[in-house]
Amino acid sequence: VSKLSFARDAKAAMKAADTLLFLAPKNTYASGWLSRVAKGPWVTLAEAAAKDAAPGAGGATETVLTGLAKPKKVVIGVLPDSVSRHNSPARHEAIASCAARAGLTAPAKSAVILGLDDPEHFVAAANAVGRALPIFTRKGGKTETAGDVALAATDQEGRGIAADGWTTAITASARWTAWMVDTHPAELTTAEFAARARRHVRGLEHVTVREIVGPKLLDAGLRGIHAVGRAAMVAPRLLLLDYRPPRASRTFGVIGKGVVYDTGGLAIKPAASMCTMKGDMGGGAAAVGAFKTLVENGFKDRVICAVPLVENAIGPHAYRNDDILMLHSKKTVEVNNTDAEGRIILSDALSYVCRTYDPAAVMNAATLTGAQLITSGLRHASIVSNREGYEQLAVRTGRATGDLCHAILFAPEFFQGEFDSRFADMTNSVKDRSNAQSSCAAQFCYSHIEDLGVPWLHIDIAGPAWRDGRGSGFGVALMSMVVRGISAADLKA
Ligand code: BES
Ligand code: MN
Ligand code: MN
Repeated sequence: VSKLSFARDAKAAMKAADTLLFLAPKNTYASGWLSRVAKGPWVTLAEAAAKDAAPGAGGATETVLTGLAKPKKVVIGVLPDSVSRHNSPARHEAIASCAARAGLTAPAKSAVILGLDDPEHFVAAANAVGRALPIFTRKGGKTETAGDVALAATDQEGRGIAADGWTTAITASARWTAWMVDTHPAELTTAEFAARARRHVRGLEHVTVREIVGPKLLDAGLRGIHAVGRAAMVAPRLLLLDYRPPRASRTFGVIGKGVVYDTGGLAIKPAASMCTMKGDMGGGAAAVGAFKTLVENGFKDRVICAVPLVENAIGPHAYRNDDILMLHSKKTVEVNNTDAEGRIILSDALSYVCRTYDPAAVMNAATLTGAQLITSGLRHASIVSNREGYEQLAVRTGRATGDLCHAILFAPEFFQGEFDSRFADMTNSVKDRSNAQSSCAAQFCYSHIEDLGVPWLHIDIAGPAWRDGRGSGFGVALMSMVVRGISAADLKA
């Protein structure tokens, strides 16, 4: 398993490293940054290479110097000087792909030195480097496992920039989240997810953990979670992490979809679209990661993290199309597609958190709809909110942290009709798939808390939960930093 550590400064990071990766914008290299942070016979050559580099706005270019004495290998990653307005000015995407290509593999010890033109970019940049260092592998030779990596950042002058507690916590929890997504469902059952989450938050002050498991879900009115998960070998459950610091005045709800495997249920998925559905708990893992990040940094208010955990399996006990379920909101749902399971379990969890804890605001992250990929693609989550300020806060935070997101429509009166049912309060899947499907899925969830007027932020991460076929850790930075940055003004109607 690879280790990522934050070094005191560039010099400390480079000590004993066999491989050095430098990452800075072209302008920063042009100012002579490299010769201010590194010494060695290769520096002149490296500076010349940076001068010739022509990174497009889309990515980074790198020059690899090999056959050196010590360090053995130097990679000069040149980032674009600017990016488009829907990208992050921290150029996290270019950093992530450059770090992935640099091959920071075991047994080599590597150092990554960031040249930041704005210290605020550290969190997005560090998180991007973290994304290139996967933890999970079941290969015998462990060839995909990265070696030890020491990370340091400097400004243009070469002066060290220290990582704050948010940057280090986010980077670690995002890597944990990616590890969770990568773990296959034969290992990552609902029970194992909960056990790993308990381990992840173990020892943190003011935190208590609870699970509502199996038939107990029925007693708590969580019939949706029970129905979706009851056919599986391992029981469905609602995992609840409660952080209650002594002087908390408000409560925030952080919820994530935890489908450890989505076969589609009886409305079973074709083989090709079932593959990767091990990652259908990416929102839930990110919620746990965001929770830990807030706790580790002494967040002053109460945080409830709720993860409904199910395997959407088939078998004699499976819930069916045509079944009618009464969810926690007391609203009834006629199931017309067992593959639209995420919204059912999220609605139960949302209603439970809102009605039990009276939060000042809630958010939920979920790999909810394939249509999210059509709407905002591989890198931007689609977000929906009933408050403009909350939505804007999320967009700003996305650009700051590299967990990008883009707002889609919130218009209950246009979308609720898609769920009209002859026998129940609603169906769970839309009539017309060409009518803003991702907004409709969000609307389904909202309809179960609409009566409460709680500020709500919905984050559909079907695309960005992944990066190049692996978990990306997306959502830890976005959710933790949104909660951290929330103000009363953001939550006003
Ligand atoms: N987990 C899927 C959504 C998904 C699809 C995530 C592709 C990542 C990649 C979700 O449970 C699902 O099956 N959604 C269906 C809903 C449909 C049946 C109304 C979808 O999006 O097709
Ligand atoms: Mn599904
Ligand atoms: Mn799903």
